[in-house]
Amino acid sequence: MKLLVIGGGGREHALVWKISQSPRVTKIYCAPGSAAIAELAECVAINPEQIDRLADFAADEKIDLTVVGPELPLTLGIADLFESRGLKIFGPNQAAAQLEGSKAFAKEILRANAIPTAAFGTFTDAAAAKQYLAQQKSPYVIKADGLAAGKGVLICASRQEAEAAIDEILVRKAFGQAGEKVVVEEFLDGEEASFMVLTDGKNVLPLASSQDHKRVFDNDEGPNTGGMGAYSPAPIVTPEVHERILREVLTPLLNGLKQKNIRYRGVVYVGVMITQDGPKVLEFNARFGDPECQPIMMRLKSDLVPLLEATIDGKLHEVIPVWHDEPAVCVVLTANGYPGAYDKGKEIHGLDHLKKWSDGFVFHAGTAKEKDRWLTTGGRVLGVTARGKNIASAVENVYGAVGKISWDGMHYRKDIAQRAIQKVSGFESRVAS
Ligand code: AMP
Ligand code: GLY
Repeated sequence: MKLLVIGGGGREHALVWKISQSPRVTKIYCAPGSAAIAELAECVAINPEQIDRLADFAADEKIDLTVVGPELPLTLGIADLFESRGLKIFGPNQAAAQLEGSKAFAKEILRANAIPTAAFGTFTDAAAAKQYLAQQKSPYVIKADGLAAGKGVLICASRQEAEAAIDEILVRKAFGQAGEKVVVEEFLDGEEASFMVLTDGKNVLPLASSQDHKRVFDNDEGPNTGGMGAYSPAPIVTPEVHERILREVLTPLLNGLKQKNIRYRGVVYVGVMITQDGPKVLEFNARFGDPECQPIMMRLKSDLVPLLEATIDGKLHEVIPVWHDEPAVCVVLTANGYPGAYDKGKEIHGLDHLKKWSDGFVFHAGTAKEKDRWLTTGGRVLGVTARGKNIASAVENVYGAVGKISWDGMHYRKDIAQRAIQKVSGFESRVAS
């Protein structure tokens, strides 16, 4: 089989790495890919938003299956385009991808199907938004409606701050078109988890659970980022929480989409807050989470390709993925300044020492190669990912590898997976006593 993966970040490196292990696959292309991905696939200089060119490429090269990494091409309708040309593609169509592309759309689906989520109001008018705000309690959560690369959510302690955030989005258009509507939301307290499933529109196949670390600094301090590290499984997703998410979120979600005549095929990523009252939906994404995809691919023992095909063909009931019992942890190394303006072009040292690393793999999110030197090009630069016999040893393996890598201004969180370690050791000590 010939596969095309769309994207070029850490998630796509992990997908290409996993797909390259499939005995079914003879050739992998990646558009645009990266210098690191080029070690496993042939990179093609087409960007994810150039969906017509991608479809032409897939048709010319007789690609058997295209896998979409990022959200943008999905919201542009890449799946509809490929399907109209008889090309097989993994990822939801444009109508279904609104689940991620429009927070207002997602909230309406949640409300209409009585799925637990934060109370909210949606507004196009700043005065109306502020009037609603006046009836809410602090802290206030203000969200731009559209895609804003993880930066469109503002959590404000005071009314003034929240009113300024509304003006920023609706009046000053800080997020451009993504801010034509604003969502004002109740603040949810609890611990977050990422719950991803594959769905063919009828069947739901849960993937391993995971937890991201959104804030840039240790102890969840500083601004939100695309994700500073992740681990899988997430002990907070107990069997009971797992069942509740399937029953209270995914079943009514698919029913609700069906009522709107929307067939969803692909990954549904549910960002959940596990509150005292149970799981509540924070957001949906229409694709694999990044960095969550990295530890999840490392834990997936089965071939990924048949799972992707079963999703497209409506046969998810016929496949059962097998997972490594060992947990996996990913620590993201970022450039100085991220998530704000960040340094670029710094030389990365130490990657050669990890070429034969047996416990894990270094996924590249934002690097380039110049002769034999690796340089930073992105805010998130590397995703150092490893398994271990338990979560503590996976953490030890990962940070051991991180210690070998350096560049001027490199930053990373030192506390990835600490919550999981505490939970698991708390459980072990309860069992032992
Ligand atoms: P979103 O893109 O909607 O997932 O928001 C990004 C991050 O903001 C989430 O992962 C949470 O950490 C935080 N967040 C979003 N909505 C809420 C909420 N209603 N209550 C508390 N935190 C939130
Ligand atoms: N790590 C969160 C996301 O992929 O949206």
